[in-house]
Formats: sequence, C-alpha cells, structure tokens
Amino acid sequence: MGFKIAILISGRGSNMNNIIEACNNKKLCSSVNLVVSNKSDAHGLKVASKYKIKTHILDGKNLATENFESLLDKILKKNNINLICLAGFMKILSKKFVKKWPKMILNIHPSILPYFKGLNAQKQAIENNAKYSGCTVHFVNEVMDGGEIIDQKIVNISTHDDEDSLSKKILMEEHKLYIKVLKRLEKNFGKGKQ
Ligand code: GRF
Repeated sequence: MGFKIAILISGRGSNMNNIIEACNNKKLCSSVNLVVSNKSDAHGLKVASKYKIKTHILDGKNLATENFESLLDKILKKNNINLICLAGFMKILSKKFVKKWPKMILNIHPSILPYFKGLNAQKQAIENNAKYSGCTVHFVNEVMDGGEIIDQKIVNISTHDDEDSLSKKILMEEHKLYIKVLKRLEKNFGKGKQ
C-alpha cells in the first residue's frame, strides 16, 4: 500500500528527485504530495515544481523552533501526509515534533551510522582513513542521526578516493537504498505495521 509522502529538503534535492521518479515510474506505489524546504533558494524546489509537485517554503531563520514545527505539522496534516522523508534537510526536529509522527519520519545519512554522524560525513570518513563508509536510512528521533536504523549499504573507500569522489559513490547508493527501504515499508504498511 502506498504512502502520501512529504519530502523535506534544504538544498540540491537529488534524493528527493529520485523518490519522485520512483513514484512516477511505479517502482513505488506511494505518491509525493508535498515538498517542504526551509531554504527559499533550495535547488530542489525548482526540481519539484518541474514535476508539478506542491512546494512550500518554511523559512526556519525567522521562526522559533516551536512556531516552525507547528506550522510544519499543520501543512503536513492539511495535505494528509502519512510519511515524511528527510532528504538533505538541515534542521533538527524536536522531541515534541517527532513524537507526533512515530515511525513516520525517515532520514538518509551518508555514512554507516553510528559512525560519522553530523555534517561532512564523507570528509570525516576520508580524514579518519576509513576503509569503507556508506549510507544509512533510519527513523528519526530527537537525536541527530540517532534514530533506529532501518537499512545500510557499505561503500568501499579506495586509496584514490577524496571527499568528492567518495560523496559521488555514496550518493549513487543512497538513491538505491532510499527506494529499497520505501518499498519494504510499503509492503509492511499494507499489513498494518512498519
Ligand atoms: C545526502 O548526502 C544525504 O545523505 C544527506 O544530505 C545529502 C542530500 O543530498 N543527508 P540531496 O539534496 O538529496 O542531493
């Protein structure tokens, strides 16, 4: 059974684009009903509009967290959203907010969590001379990159890799992993569990 997905972004939106494509091509039976960005200049907003998906800018800069989240909650409910996919959304959601959406918020992170949490995960992997890194899709709780892990994919790091080449390799896997997880959740959603 399909979800009514809202994707939250702050920038490029390649994971967002990939999820939209998967819904449009029926690789997923969900639909992307809404894209919300906390940055008015996020490139992903243009991409979403190209697909004629409803977009909403919720500028976090001028709003207290509580006001930001209460507006976000209202927009999501108004659009009957039942799954929130964070995709490069650079804002931490509060405990109060995530509790309202239990197991309904996913995030993708470019490392094998719990390693290399936070910003510049690929750079952290290179600087730590890691032999591998990868990506993780997890449920979101109030701890940054700390929610229950759903699935991960390992990417090997060669001696030639730098932050840029590793980021590209990981991003390719991110796109596959997010869809794989959504497919699995769709199956379970039909059975009334996630
Ligand atoms: C991705 O690497 C994702 O893992 C991280 O932010 C980046 C977003 O990229 N959370 P994009 O906007 O989906 O292209």
